[in-house]
Amino acid sequence: MTGDVTADRRALRIDRLRLAESMDALGRIGGTARGGLHRVALTDDDRRGRDLLVRWMREAGLQVSVDQMGNIFGIRPGTEARPPVFMGSHADSVPSGGRYDGQLGVLCALETLRTLNDHRVATRHPVGMIVFTNEEGARFQPAMIASGVMAGKIPLEDAYNARDRDGIRLVDALERIGYLGSEPCVPRPMRAYLELHIEQGPILEEEGLPLGVVEGIVAIAWSRITLHGTQDHAGPTPMRVRHDALVAAAEIVGGVRGIARRIGGELVSTVGRLDVSPNIPNAIPGKVELSVDFRDPEEGHLDRALEMLDEVVRVAARREGVQAHVDHYWRVPRTPFDPEVVGIVEAAATALGCGHRRMLSGAGHDAQYMAAICPTGMIFVPSRGGRSHCEEEFTGLDDIEHGANALLLACARLAGAPTAPSP
Ligand code: GLV
Ligand code: MN
Ligand code: MN
Repeated sequence: MTGDVTADRRALRIDRLRLAESMDALGRIGGTARGGLHRVALTDDDRRGRDLLVRWMREAGLQVSVDQMGNIFGIRPGTEARPPVFMGSHADSVPSGGRYDGQLGVLCALETLRTLNDHRVATRHPVGMIVFTNEEGARFQPAMIASGVMAGKIPLEDAYNARDRDGIRLVDALERIGYLGSEPCVPRPMRAYLELHIEQGPILEEEGLPLGVVEGIVAIAWSRITLHGTQDHAGPTPMRVRHDALVAAAEIVGGVRGIARRIGGELVSTVGRLDVSPNIPNAIPGKVELSVDFRDPEEGHLDRALEMLDEVVRVAARREGVQAHVDHYWRVPRTPFDPEVVGIVEAAATALGCGHRRMLSGAGHDAQYMAAICPTGMIFVPSRGGRSHCEEEFTGLDDIEHGANALLLACARLAGAPTAPSP
């Protein structure tokens, strides 16, 4: 492995303390009393987090730019005119989320660049980092919207017109926080893309392994169901004349769970969002909007799940006498990562003497869209109790250090760092 290359003869390794301090400092912006993170995309806290990252990126000597989707790029020059190797992740969190999902990958990318500087490693390819906008899809749907635009999978206009619950458009929110950049958000030449992330599941912890070598990401489908019933008074309205949108929604929630039971295997199904109108104790709900999230390694299972969802909605709407509209608005295919990059990540783990295994990601990541642009791979570190998208999310510093070093070595290899004997 070329990972131990260094101009100053020390083994090339990240600075664990600096990384931990950066995690603490960034995690305080939007940090919650229970140790979590609440830094939803394009809010004031997101801007504060971005500003800090940009400051650190400039201090590391990176050339910083912002594209039309607010993605932040920082580039360290190479010695040759070659396409850069990029690392990255996102800085937004889900509401009441954890301090590791997203920002850990961003900070490990920054730490890699800082370490290349410390060790005066000259790479043939430039090396850069990307901070992606609105990866979570918590405020603006769909998730991974900015890498989706970059990969040409989501039209820029559609992304700009995505609206949050208050009707605010993404483009206006971007402008408000000062991150509506001018660089085209289009595929650019890239040697490779690497993303470090927490696993967000239990496998690495259960198997006592510090590192996951990610081979790909499962297929994902999101649907939006809108139910129109009849809003009326909760008192005088007899049960026999009611058309209650929430009663139909309740049947659909159970039906969505039932789809996962019926298809079985690895299919997972979630109704995570329910918007009830008018959402007061004394009115029959006239309108409900639900989100449905299906994931499976097999595309065919998702096709079946979506057909079954149509049927579940039809039956529930008919029974309650409400109107239903189903919009299957987002689908990302199962995405295999590049075998060369996967092999390089695995070799980095081996060079570090870290236990590791190959695995598939059940969560979506910007890497899923980046794989359409360039050879891509991911590194996972364990999540305590498999917990994520919650304040309890936690990964120990030893595991983070292993992951960050694997990212560093894989990046150095892909960027063509000169080989030198280890001390
Ligand atoms: C992103 O966190 C996703 O997997 O939905
Ligand atoms: Mn994430
Ligand atoms: Mn997430």
